[in-house]
Amino acid sequence: MADLTTSLFGWTLKNPIMPAAGPPVRDAKMAKACIEGGVGALVTKTISTTAASVPTPNMWDLKSYFLNTELWSELPPEHWLEKEFPEIRRLADEAGIPVIISMGYTAEEIAALAPKVKPFADAVELSTHYIEDDPRPMQEAIRAAKEALDVPVLVKMSPFREPQPAALAAVEAGVDGIVATNSFGPAFGIDIERGGRPLMGGKGYGWLSGPALKPIALRMVYDIAQVVDVPIIGVGGISKGTDVVEYLMAGASAVGICTAAITRGPGIFGKIAKQLNKWLDNNGYASVAEIQGLTLRQQIPTMEAPPILIPEKCTGCNFCVISCVYDALYLDENRKIAIVEDNCFKCGVCLSRCPVDALASPY
Ligand SMILES: Cc1cc2nc3c(=O)[nH]c(=O)nc-3n(C[C@H](O)[C@H](O)[C@H](O)COP(=O)(O)O)c2cc1C
Ligand code: SF4
Ligand code: SF4
Repeated sequence: MADLTTSLFGWTLKNPIMPAAGPPVRDAKMAKACIEGGVGALVTKTISTTAASVPTPNMWDLKSYFLNTELWSELPPEHWLEKEFPEIRRLADEAGIPVIISMGYTAEEIAALAPKVKPFADAVELSTHYIEDDPRPMQEAIRAAKEALDVPVLVKMSPFREPQPAALAAVEAGVDGIVATNSFGPAFGIDIERGGRPLMGGKGYGWLSGPALKPIALRMVYDIAQVVDVPIIGVGGISKGTDVVEYLMAGASAVGICTAAITRGPGIFGKIAKQLNKWLDNNGYASVAEIQGLTLRQQIPTMEAPPILIPEKCTGCNFCVISCVYDALYLDENRKIAIVEDNCFKCGVCLSRCPVDALASPY
């Protein structure tokens, strides 16, 4: 059994997996289900100084991605302060896990909310989703939170901004951690079975999350980790243990999950923790700490030779031949893989197409 224990802001988490702000933590009842599902820490749904007026319909699962038009919490802050936060605090204390309270958006709003959430928060997370591209409003919000609180202040980035300048500006303002990333968009989906009407309510378009977001969010984590030293929580498209491995290797200290907890329920947290454990065991790593940041120390690869063919493994499925747009691969008279080396452009795609490892990497 690998050690999933994760150190974050002086806390010791039983694993690096937490919910990301959204419906899976929309109130204390859902937070309880996340605890029972096996999270290492809690993050709560974003609140602001007023309740959000959320359009409907506001969520649609398209399998490889997910669209939503949710805003921040539809519950007023007074309700959170009187009912949900005290109960979440009690549940978290009982479970021995920290609570990160998500708030938005402007410095004025954060200054009004921060002193009120203080009794319930082990840390706060500031959403930058609805504030401008200019980093100054984010910096002011961070400073407002730092002034009111003596717990770690995290800032959550959106994926439609360049992450490095934003991360550097956040650190300059005193941030203690970065969450990357929020959902991407605006994005649009059409219901072709109903005359082509938009899938979402509100303006008709929404925000993209789920598996399709993962490479974008992963790039953000990898880029941010290269310029700042504060912990990063990787969020976007995580649905299995190997996704967590990628985020940790890219430089994240922990991860957050929203969409997969909506589509598959809060039991997903513990399942993913188990998958992570199994992957670490199978690959000879003793702990999550051992893989954290590995990619940051890796060379960017170059392919200098054609793929290595292993014809005895080839089933003749033709997948790689079809994908080789440089016309380098063909099946010989025995339906085994063969190559015209001079045609090979070393693009690499065939290595990702073979289902039986009959093509090996030359690099
Ligand atoms: C329905 C829905 C509601 C969300 N609400 C919030 C929110 O209130 N605050 C926030 O910071 N992010 C919110 N998010 C973004 C998620 O926390 C997360 O950053 C994003 O969905 C990418 O992660 P995922 O692919 O695991 O969902 C929401 C996402 C979804 C799908
Ligand atoms: S590396 Fe690219 S060009 Fe070379 S054989 Fe494979 S698919 Fe064809
Ligand atoms: S994808 Fe693999 S198994 Fe299929 S033809 Fe190519 S080498 Fe053979």
